[in-house]
Amino acid sequence: MSDTPTAGGPVGTGQARRERAVTDEVVASFAAGPERYRELMQGLVRHLHAFARDVRLTEAEWQQAIGFLTRCGHITTDTRQEFILLSDVLGLSTLTVGIDAAASAGATESTVVGPFFVADAPRFELGDDISGGAAGQPCYVSGAVTDVAGRPVPGARMDIWESDENGRYDVQYDGGTVAARGWLVTGADGGYRFWSVRPAPYPIPADGPVGDLLAAAGRSPMRPAHVHFRLTAAGYRTLTTHVFAAGDPHLADDAVFGVKDSLVADYTRHPPGRAPDGRTLSGPWSRLDFDFVLAPDREGVA
Ligand code: BEZ
Ligand code: FE
Repeated sequence: MSDTPTAGGPVGTGQARRERAVTDEVVASFAAGPERYRELMQGLVRHLHAFARDVRLTEAEWQQAIGFLTRCGHITTDTRQEFILLSDVLGLSTLTVGIDAAASAGATESTVVGPFFVADAPRFELGDDISGGAAGQPCYVSGAVTDVAGRPVPGARMDIWESDENGRYDVQYDGGTVAARGWLVTGADGGYRFWSVRPAPYPIPADGPVGDLLAAAGRSPMRPAHVHFRLTAAGYRTLTTHVFAAGDPHLADDAVFGVKDSLVADYTRHPPGRAPDGRTLSGPWSRLDFDFVLAPDREGVA
């Protein structure tokens, strides 16, 4: 890290030495404590102080930042997490996912979990309709879960959650309805299949301070249409990811930087008629066929 302030800051002056002394004193105050804690806190202080020096932060700007964080705190509840949203729009969530689950050769890429995952979603059987009455065109989703050598992974837990055609998740409805979410277990051949609804693009919650942040930058709050998946299986790294809809107009400006090319797939459109599972549909329907590849867990057990 550079000691040299940019944009006309003091270089090699008494002012620069005084600024440096503050940083050194605070860094030293975190010298005790567990090793990882020390590493995190000293790194945070160094980078935070370097930021303030680099941009020559004013007290008025500092006040504004504190006001912003206070608003994030006030709007956060059990069901609304403005700080995660802030991390998401700053790209910190995507960066952290990429650091912690570095791409493993041949495995499906991960992306952000987002705020709408629910741990105790209902269980379904293979082939079930998980839509729970969510508005939207029926969508048949199927594929296989394998390891990086192409061997099937039977018995994997697959959690699925998505918005309805209006871009709303069930947790955003009034009244506790559960819709377009659930989990199932891959079959003996590693295969999976279920019905839900065709996903739609939607805005992240933009009526709070994070929405103001985006508006001030002229940034879109939109996310491209996607279905969320979380795959958990003994011996494999848990995969949290989305499958995005090819052709969506928001693929290039996802508000939370979650899109990866390998996660974009065709949700093909079909006229009324027979679906792959024999069901006859009286209206148009869509289909996603997507295979997931799991990386061995950190110990390489698989
Ligand atoms: C989501 O995809 O559900 C999501 C992710 C980050 C922020 C808001 C929503
Ligand atoms: Fe989502």
